[in-house]
Amino acid sequence: MKYLNSTVGGVLLGVVLGASAAPVTIALPQETAQLRPSTHPGYVIATQMCAICHSADYINQQPGKMTLTQWTAEVAKMQHAYGAPLSDDQVKQIGEYLAITYGSEKPASQ
Ligand code: HEC
Repeated sequence: MKYLNSTVGGVLLGVVLGASAAPVTIALPQETAQLRPSTHPGYVIATQMCAICHSADYINQQPGKMTLTQWTAEVAKMQHAYGAPLSDDQVKQIGEYLAITYGSEKPASQ
């Protein structure tokens, strides 16, 4: 099965490379979506790590008032299912930031 897959892949790659000799340039639109600012330490980590794969719009467009548990599970899904390079502590920090800034969580009293 492994042999079959790599053979098929090799043939497909050959076809693709052979068919398009001219370089292709794709100009993506300027990213304008941003995360909502916060003093929570998770904000800084989120701005660094959550734009690696997709727009901040994915976060902005989630239904309102998700709980801390829901947001933390969402970030853990990025870590486990999609391979976001996050430590467990970073997942916790970003989950808190998102739950406070976008969700139902209240900031801890100072
Ligand atoms: C390694 C790549 C990667 C990183 C890094 C990443 N995501 Fe995602 N994210 C995805 C993929 C893939 C999807 C699903 C896209 C689709 O279904 O169209 C997704 C979708 C989402 C969605 C939409 C709801 C859903 O579950 O599909 C949210 C919200 C989200 N990501 C939040 C985040 C947050 C917050 C971070 C930073 C902690 C993050 N993502 C970092 C890959 C990533």
